[in-house]
Amino acid sequence: MDVKFTVNDEPVDVDVEPRVVLVDLLRGTLGLTGTKVGCDTGQCGTCVVDLDGRSLKSCTLLAVQADGASVTTIEGIAGSDGLDEVQAALWEHHGVQCGFCIPGVVVSLRDLLRRNAAPTEAEIRDWLSGNLCRCTGYHSLVRAAQSLAPAPGEDRR
Ligand code: FES
Ligand code: FES
Repeated sequence: MDVKFTVNDEPVDVDVEPRVVLVDLLRGTLGLTGTKVGCDTGQCGTCVVDLDGRSLKSCTLLAVQADGASVTTIEGIAGSDGLDEVQAALWEHHGVQCGFCIPGVVVSLRDLLRRNAAPTEAEIRDWLSGNLCRCTGYHSLVRAAQSLAPAPGEDRR
């Protein structure tokens, strides 16, 4: 099937078999290996990408479902001037240990913070329940996300 979408603002036009999952198209065909595969069964969240403004597990999506969509992977998040604010906060708060979960965590936290600029610890832990991290115990991930809350009176949207 012919599938057309954008990845990190670049147009993509590919011929894929209907059974191909999005993460395999991204990593295999397009060479965007920043998105990881930890389980291939929708459990771990390492494969989370942004699809039309929603963080989704790309191992649970068929590539053909991205037709017409705008996909952002971890490669499209850091600007040429450095880390985006979520990446910088994770770095600052020692949220990156082995790093395997981090591409998915970054995409997930960006989605959460768009919906809720000042999430509570419980809300962050609940949101990240689909992103398995074996290293941090989530403490540093929570601190990083909370550090991005706007100051009183500041509108960050
Ligand atoms: S590889 Fe997709 S959820 Fe684990
Ligand atoms: S930093 Fe190692 S799995 Fe999260």
